[in-house]
This record gives sequence, C-alpha cells and structure tokens, in this order.
Amino acid sequence: MTTDTHSEVERKVRDHFHDDAYRFDAIYETRKGPVARFIDNWWRGVVQRRLELNVERLQPLAGKRILDVGCGSGRFCIAFANGGAKYVLGIDFAPAMIDIANEIAAKAGVAEACEFRVGTFPEAVAESEGPFDAATANGFFDYVDEPAPIIARMRELTKGKMVMSFPKAVEWRIPLRRLRFWMKGTPLFLYREPDVHRLMDAAGVFDYEIVHLDRDYLVVAEV
Ligand SMILES: C[S@@+](CC[C@H](N)C(=O)[O-])C[C@H]1O[C@@H](n2cnc3c(N)ncnc32)[C@H](O)[C@@H]1O
Repeated sequence: MTTDTHSEVERKVRDHFHDDAYRFDAIYETRKGPVARFIDNWWRGVVQRRLELNVERLQPLAGKRILDVGCGSGRFCIAFANGGAKYVLGIDFAPAMIDIANEIAAKAGVAEACEFRVGTFPEAVAESEGPFDAATANGFFDYVDEPAPIIARMRELTKGKMVMSFPKAVEWRIPLRRLRFWMKGTPLFLYREPDVHRLMDAAGVFDYEIVHLDRDYLVVAEV
C-alpha cells in the first residue's frame, strides 16, 4: 500500500498542475497566434518577465549550482543552464511538469546540467546536496499554505542569492483569478507587502529587496 503524505492543499495543487501542465507551459511558447499572444501577454505577461528578472539578478550564472523549487516545466532551470550554470536541480511534485521539463531540456541541449526530480519540497532535497549558490521559487508561494518553513529551508540550503515571487493580494486581476481558482477547487494564497516582510523575518532572511513586478512582489535576497 502506498501512503500519500501530502496535505489536502498539496494534493489539490499537485493534481491541478499535473492535469494543467501542457496548458501552463504554453504561456512560454512563442509560436502562437496573435490572439493567444495578446491574452497571454495581458493576463500572464508577468511569467515571462519573472524569468528574465531571475536570469538578470543571478548573473554571473557561469559555474553556479542552483536550486529551483516548484520548477514546473523547467523553463527557469533551462534558462539558468543556457546561461552557463553548472548544475540546476528542479523540484516539482507534479509528474507531468517534470516530464515536460526533461523533454525541453533535452531539446535545448542542456539535459546534462539539469536534474529534474518529482518530489515535495523540502523533503525532496537532502542536506548533503547543498549548499547551492542560488535558490529560486517563482509562481510557487501562490500555492503554499505555510511559506515560512519552506523559505527557511531554502535559506539553509543556500549560500548566495534567493529569488522568490509572491502574488499581490491587491491587484486589478485578483477577483477574476480568485474566481477561476475557486471554480477549479485549487487553493490560492495572496500577499500584502507587510506579509512578505513578516515571512522574511520568520524565515531568517534579513538582507533583501522587494521589486514590484506587475502582479507580483519579487524578493531578491542575499543569504
Ligand atoms: C505555477 S507553477 C510555476 C512553475 C515555474 N516555477 C514557473 O514559474 O514556470 C507552480 C509549481 O509548483 C509546484 N509545487 C507547489 N508546491 C510544491 C511543493 N511543496 N513541492 C514541489 N512542488 C510544488 C506545482 O506542482 C507547480 O508545478
């Protein structure tokens, strides 16, 4: 008998992203019609801008070991490896996301620098695998009910930089986003700026800046 040790929130989030993996990854796809491109840009443009900002803030990437928590279809890991990172470990508990990540990394010719693992963070990463030069978590805390212990664990595993996004609670797209997730039965967690400061404090992250990136707060920390 297999025991599912996931909490109710984790189970719902994992099932949502397992079922939705191809649709989610299509946000990054550049070959699409003008209508799809316009909608993605207008509604989810932050996803691409987050990726660019992570790459920019983690320069120089050459030779780095990077941990990407909630890596999804691996787009960040692949961009880090393309930029010269020596080893990138992507963790995600949705198996379909990891399948896509492996497929795209192979096509991009960076499979050797990337390891994609189906698992739940923090359990899926052993102490002995650290320290990483950087740890990232983007579009991840939207789906986590207890972020502080996760941020603290990322900090313990890292000697360098952390980049993390937190979706704003007050933003014009929020009512529709809440409705979409409520209809699907998928949990969604939103943050005000004081919540982000409180979380960093609770997780022992003290040296950081908050960048306002469209619908997200992007925290860039030195640890
Ligand atoms: C919106 S996706 C973001 C993917 C990627 N970071 C990006 O921005 O393209 C969030 C991902 O986090 C994963 N996830 C959420 N909680 C997790 C946990 N505790 N452990 C591992 N993966 C998790 C989900 O399965 C999902 O694929």
